[in-house]
Amino acid sequence: MFNYRIIKRAQRPKQLLDFSASLCYPSRVCSRRWMSARPEERQVVGITPPRKKVTIQHLQALRTSRTPITMLTAYDFPTGRACEAHGVDITLVGDSLAQVCLGYDSTTRLTLDEMLHHIRAVARGSHVPLLIADMPFGTYHASPEDAVRNAVRMVREGGADAVKLEGGLELVDTVRRLTSVGIPVMAHVGLLPQRHVALSGYRTQGRDAESALGVLRSALALEEAGAFAVLLEAIPHVLATYITQRLRHAPTIGIGAGPGTDGQVLVWDDLMGTWHGHQAKFVRRFADVKSEVEKGIRAYSEAVRERSFPASTESYEMPKAQWERFQQLVEGDAAKDA
Ligand code: KIV
Repeated sequence: MFNYRIIKRAQRPKQLLDFSASLCYPSRVCSRRWMSARPEERQVVGITPPRKKVTIQHLQALRTSRTPITMLTAYDFPTGRACEAHGVDITLVGDSLAQVCLGYDSTTRLTLDEMLHHIRAVARGSHVPLLIADMPFGTYHASPEDAVRNAVRMVREGGADAVKLEGGLELVDTVRRLTSVGIPVMAHVGLLPQRHVALSGYRTQGRDAESALGVLRSALALEEAGAFAVLLEAIPHVLATYITQRLRHAPTIGIGAGPGTDGQVLVWDDLMGTWHGHQAKFVRRFADVKSEVEKGIRAYSEAVRERSFPASTESYEMPKAQWERFQQLVEGDAAKDA
């Protein structure tokens, strides 16, 4: 940075003189304050007519009419905003955020405070979809009272509409308690990532008859306890279709559970292709964001290094008279200092 106070006219850097020659002066432009990151308009664009808030009743109506339900994870304001703007039915603040956003090696590392921070950000962007958040590992296991206390924080401080819990029959009392105080619960059965160590890895569940029966019993018992929907992860498609038919009213949402469920969910980063690492069998990449990001960063760095960015059209102007006055002031200061 130049210290203009001590630079005499003859010593002024060439860039400064060149710059003064290239001034243009629309004062309206000069007086406006621009931010590179400004909040978007709150209005939902791209959806006509504007959508109504998605309710549990609406999801049940979709199930009855056999209209597939779309659910997608979101972890911050922009991803929440995208779910809102592009017609997703359910936004899930999944605890996969531990891995895809926070760089932990397992969802079991995520704390309730970290989750709350992200639910709040998503909630600011996603108003219309039903907003569900995963209860982090350890926040609903000690007792149903503990689960209620923590779920209340997720609703009250975070802005979640409902919570999702991973587990089976052992959660029946907890689901009953939560729903009895008005906190809607989505049950999550099949592969339970929070138990990946106990399960010896992220393995498909319900592949043999006994374990398939276990998954079915869990889904039926959790619906009976009050769960408004059941997420089925990584189970054979015939089993998922069967469970979907056996449940009385709760829609099923599948991930790695085939086409026979009432809806589908994917992790944002898997769908968008924000990374090119391991791809589970059930993941389809619907976009290639990683390549776009790479292209963008390379082009930006190149433009900075060859000084083609920023161009004069990407820079602010100063009225010529103000620039000349500024130079006089600098000279006055320099003369005083001499
Ligand atoms: O945390 C998560 O992303 C999930 C998936 C099953 C969608 O729960």
